[in-house]
Amino acid sequence: MSATETPQEHWEGRYAEKPQMWSGRVNAHLATVAGGLTPGRALDLGCGEGADAIWLAAEGWRVVAVDIATNALDRARSAAEARGVADRIDFQHHDLSHSFPVGSFDLVSAQFLHSTVYLERRQILQQAAAAVAPGGTLLIVDHGEAPPWASKHVHDHRFQSADEVVAELGLPDESWHPQHVGTLERETIGPTGESAVLRDNLIVLRRTP
Ligand SMILES: C[S@@+](CC[C@H](N)C(=O)[O-])C[C@H]1O[C@@H](n2cnc3c(N)ncnc32)[C@H](O)[C@@H]1O
Repeated sequence: MSATETPQEHWEGRYAEKPQMWSGRVNAHLATVAGGLTPGRALDLGCGEGADAIWLAAEGWRVVAVDIATNALDRARSAAEARGVADRIDFQHHDLSHSFPVGSFDLVSAQFLHSTVYLERRQILQQAAAAVAPGGTLLIVDHGEAPPWASKHVHDHRFQSADEVVAELGLPDESWHPQHVGTLERETIGPTGESAVLRDNLIVLRRTP
């Protein structure tokens, strides 16, 4: 990031590098966790090209999907239209460090909401928890370590543990029940077709009804 580049310019630039950045498939942990819930209102933070929002909508959820990059949101909208679920997804442009969608949700999902540029992650995840409706679920999936194909810059980064992320949320024990807080391994295929095992931090917290 240059000294004058904003986070939005950074992410718009990243997405402009190639016509498709992500796999187009739903994130595995989201599918597992949301697959066990009754569809309702969902919020997807940092939705990228929309694969998770589209999967949720196809499963019957009404979704608000948010990203800082307008070009990613354009791709997500087109993909949702192609899948026939655009009417179930409200794509919103926010820099989550400065604005957050209005409403309360039965599922709030933050999948790999990491950034190598300025991001008020702690504050955003606290707002994410506050946006969970009674009886709802907060789902955070983070990298537990850098994927093998990531840049040296990313490898040098120390990723927070799941316990550290939960501690920073500062949630009262009496109104939140941890369903899962820890690391899981996942087999995947990398950007050039290589197989790899990734370590993800999975946080699933249920708010009391
Ligand atoms: C590592 S990508 C993950 C994308 C998607 N959730 C996935 O799992 O494929 C992080 C996403 O967060 C978005 N993002 C980064 N900073 C943001 C901010 N301040 N506000 C909103 N979105 C942001 C990026 O544009 C990008 O789409």
